[in-house]
Amino acid sequence: MKKIVILTGAGISAESGIKTFRDGDGLWETHRVEDVATPQAWVKDAELVLDFYNARRKQLFEVAPNSAHLALKKLEDKFDVQIITQNVDNLHERAGSSNVLHLHGLLTQARSTFDPSLIYDIGDKALKIGDKCERGSQLRPHIVWFGEAVPNIEPAAKIVSKANILMIIGTSLLVYPAAGLMYYAPVHSQKFYIDPSATDIPDVKNLTIVKEKAGTGVPRVVEQLLKGENGK
Ligand code: APR
Repeated sequence: MKKIVILTGAGISAESGIKTFRDGDGLWETHRVEDVATPQAWVKDAELVLDFYNARRKQLFEVAPNSAHLALKKLEDKFDVQIITQNVDNLHERAGSSNVLHLHGLLTQARSTFDPSLIYDIGDKALKIGDKCERGSQLRPHIVWFGEAVPNIEPAAKIVSKANILMIIGTSLLVYPAAGLMYYAPVHSQKFYIDPSATDIPDVKNLTIVKEKAGTGVPRVVEQLLKGENGK
């Protein structure tokens, strides 16, 4: 079976009603990164940080996967599919995708501020000051903040290096190390970049630019792949 690796960003969830970060009405237009998404913000005003992520988590349960998430699930009929997402929503999982690696954490999880290996599923629950891990330290959102290491980047790079086909969907490719992942793809692998603002990526060969919203562009490319390629 051929391996398809899919790197997604906020744009794939935009048509579900979740704001992206850097578009005109993006989250970073109304919230300062420094106030809500850095370790310094957590030290300065943990309540503000919790409020920000509590609101994101609450909204997540008011939205649903869209046609792009659902199309990626269909690819599993004929391909070995691995999704690597920068998103902290769980819409790929809710669309039924089997293999999803989160680079920047997950809204539905919390973790200990004392021991990062203590991670808890919290579903739609709001996190509050005073919510503690089993060792007695405050719980924080299980989110990779600006300035923090991205523990899943190495496994992600290994996965990309095995890709026969790479799809990049709905990301501005401005945030590293995630934005460098495509350089691990084999030179001759087939690559797609589906995003209304997509432009050519220097030094990336065999790249097809699909300047379209994910909701229409992804199902179309998926149909082509399913028709033209039996995955054997
Ligand atoms: N379909 C596809 N792409 C879309 C759509 C859509 N309907 N609407 C917007 N986009 C595209 C935009 O053109 C843009 O390229 O989604 C991209 C969103 O870019 P960003 O807001 O920068 O989001 P992302 O690339 O996921 O950000 C990376 O930055 O703040 C951090 O940790 C956060 O994971 C996030 C990271």
